[in-house]
Amino acid sequence: MNKAVIGLQWGDEGKGKIVDYLSEDFDLVVRYQGGNNAGHTVIVDDITYKLNLIPSGVIRGKVCYLGQGVVLDPKHFSKEFQQIKKKINDPQVFLSSNISLILDYHKQLDKINESILNPNKKIGTTSKGIGPAYQDKVGRKSIKLYDLKSKKILEEKINAIKKFYDPILDNFNELKVNVEQTVQDLLSFYDLVKELIVDNSSIKKEYKNKKILFEGAQGALLDLDHGSYPFVTSSNTVSSNIVIGSALQVDYKTIGIFKAYATRVGNGPFPSELVNEIGDYIAEKGLEIGTVTKRKRRCGWLDLVSLKYSCEINRVSELCMTKADVLNNLSEVKVCKSYNSKDYEDINFSESNILDSLLLENNDFEVFPGWGDTKDLSKFEKLPDNLKKFINYIEMYLNIPIKIISLGPERNQTIIR
Ligand code: GDP
Ligand code: IMO
Ligand code: MG
Repeated sequence: MNKAVIGLQWGDEGKGKIVDYLSEDFDLVVRYQGGNNAGHTVIVDDITYKLNLIPSGVIRGKVCYLGQGVVLDPKHFSKEFQQIKKKINDPQVFLSSNISLILDYHKQLDKINESILNPNKKIGTTSKGIGPAYQDKVGRKSIKLYDLKSKKILEEKINAIKKFYDPILDNFNELKVNVEQTVQDLLSFYDLVKELIVDNSSIKKEYKNKKILFEGAQGALLDLDHGSYPFVTSSNTVSSNIVIGSALQVDYKTIGIFKAYATRVGNGPFPSELVNEIGDYIAEKGLEIGTVTKRKRRCGWLDLVSLKYSCEINRVSELCMTKADVLNNLSEVKVCKSYNSKDYEDINFSESNILDSLLLENNDFEVFPGWGDTKDLSKFEKLPDNLKKFINYIEMYLNIPIKIISLGPERNQTIIR
């Protein structure tokens, strides 16, 4: 059965680690949305791999595919591909010809978009040009990978883009679009990657009866439509976007992944946020520094209310919990079980001002005694009783089994039930 690993919080749940772990049993590992705003860290045998675009299956030598829903920055991809080639022998990475590109003006526009907002209204994007690139896709102005075959088409399209964006760029003292340079860069990029570009139908045919693992980027609460707009990313992160973003019309089972606490990088509501020494402790212990922007991640208790919502919108059938080891030395661990006595059915998660009013002090928590050490535990049965009680409570609340438990960043620090 095909599977999908989807983040249920605000990203950084450990998707990269688990995709690497699971990919052993799959033939193809696929990204279907997002771009190099994603940052996935995987540690195998003391070697650290940092991936932004290339699915983590590449570490096991699996064939990896970036589907048409991804936005791809050619400059970034070239660097990441070179980096991975230093660590992996002959990485197998293929790109849908229908991918939309992120170009320099998207990154400039991302910066401009943020600069015009009041400080408390800034999204806190990764500055990778993601929003403007998706805007161009919807606005039917994207440069697609398939355009790179023709200098004439590129010149025509980029000239039109120049007419559209130069007045804005100029107004904000940004460099105007340089048509000649952009075309030249794209043609050079094409020379580098033309062997990797495939059309949607050929990949569909080739992997028709093979096993596919889909790697989500970001998390359900950053979904463009389901998340707390406007503090979201610009793609649909949820599993229902898989068929559109990959153009692979297959069935799959969704594994929802969450941390035993919550983090958020960037702005927006966070009802279980801990702006105190416990939050700082979790950030330090969990090494909660953003891979892409190096920003400190905001930390809080696990929020079961939003987790239940995320499970529902992703049709999650089994769960993976990561990073409970980070909480090992705490004397007590809490989980948020309702917002100000409101259950999740009564909350509108897609309006940030509603979520913003849900302050930590008014929310209801279940309190668990700490569970101590989790080192060198390879079986569920051997876990400390208090951790088992914590896991059991979450399963009962969500009514979904936790089948994978990750207790450290290394590939082998993983328990399957
Ligand atoms: P992703 O974006 O969902 O792939 O997650 P990130 O890679 O951005 O962030 C997860 C971080 O936690 C990475 O640094 C991982 O190496 C690390 N990690 C993953 N699982 C665990 C775990 O179970 N315990 C600990 N301590 N670290 C983990
Ligand atoms: P992974 O795949 C955490 C956040 C940004 C910002 C918002 C919009 O590593 O889990 P964007 O640049 O996408 O327009 O920024 O989304 N964000 C992430 N936060 N993990 C990610 O990816 C993220 N990708 C985007 O911080 O709040
Ligand atoms: Mg990440």
